[in-house]
Amino acid sequence: VTVLPSWLPPPDVVTQLRAAGCVFAEDEAQLLIDAAGGADELGWLIERRVAGEPLEYILGWVDFDGLRVAIAPGVFVPRRRSELLVREASKLCQPGAVVVDLCCGSGALGRALHARVGDLDLHSVDVDPGAVQCATGNLQPIHGRVYLGDLFEPLPARLRSDVHVIMANVPYVPTAEIARLPPEARDHEPAISLDGGADGLDVLRRVVADARAWLRPGGHLLSEIDESQYPSAAEAFAAAELRPRLIRSAQLRTSIITGTPVCTGLSTTVDVR
Ligand SMILES: C[S@@+](CC[C@H](N)C(=O)[O-])C[C@H]1O[C@@H](n2cnc3c(N)ncnc32)[C@H](O)[C@@H]1O
Repeated sequence: VTVLPSWLPPPDVVTQLRAAGCVFAEDEAQLLIDAAGGADELGWLIERRVAGEPLEYILGWVDFDGLRVAIAPGVFVPRRRSELLVREASKLCQPGAVVVDLCCGSGALGRALHARVGDLDLHSVDVDPGAVQCATGNLQPIHGRVYLGDLFEPLPARLRSDVHVIMANVPYVPTAEIARLPPEARDHEPAISLDGGADGLDVLRRVVADARAWLRPGGHLLSEIDESQYPSAAEAFAAAELRPRLIRSAQLRTSIITGTPVCTGLSTTVDVR
């Protein structure tokens, strides 16, 4: 059912958006018309979009894994491909699982994991106050806790050795490639959400180095990477005694690396009478 606005949108919205290079001009036009309260507001929204602002910032929400997640300007826009990470994490969690979402941005991954798994003991961290504010709004309804700080640093110590799943969609674009990103990302998303250092793995290496101390035996770390980064990332996982695995999705055109603590020593002691 199409709900028509009580005011009349100008007939050239699609043309304006198409001329500005919007590939899905018709869909975007409809979304902007739905979001506007009147012709003046629509004019302002179109102006922002034509100037290159990401559609999600203008609408204030993004569709992620079938959910409408709130998003604010300056916060990384969750990408559809990251649904792979959520999907794989959901296979490793039972309801009630202790989950840490490092570099949480808007909190979309935790929100989507909760929708797939059910109740979680969810702890999300970001170093950017804008992201923390956005994630807090998205995660409050599911009782997720959100912390401001550097990676594991702000987490409560009681979570050490107790985490079932760590999701870490860290910045992983090599610095030299930032200039080649589409302008919507390059010009509107903060560098701290994209730049992963010389080979893109600076932040991931720091996560991997500390992950084992937070994971319970049999727990898992999952992180999105470019497939070309797998050999170096796997080396870091192995050095931290996490058994690495590459999971690829042709459909979502992405890959993730997962790691689980390697049992040190295969011998166990069993007490018998
Ligand atoms: C690629 S974005 C991913 C955001 C979110 N996980 C998602 O998929 O939509 C990376 C996020 O990492 C955050 N970040 C970068 N360095 C960080 C650090 N040292 N500690 C915590 N968060 C960090 C950025 O602020 C940004 O929100």
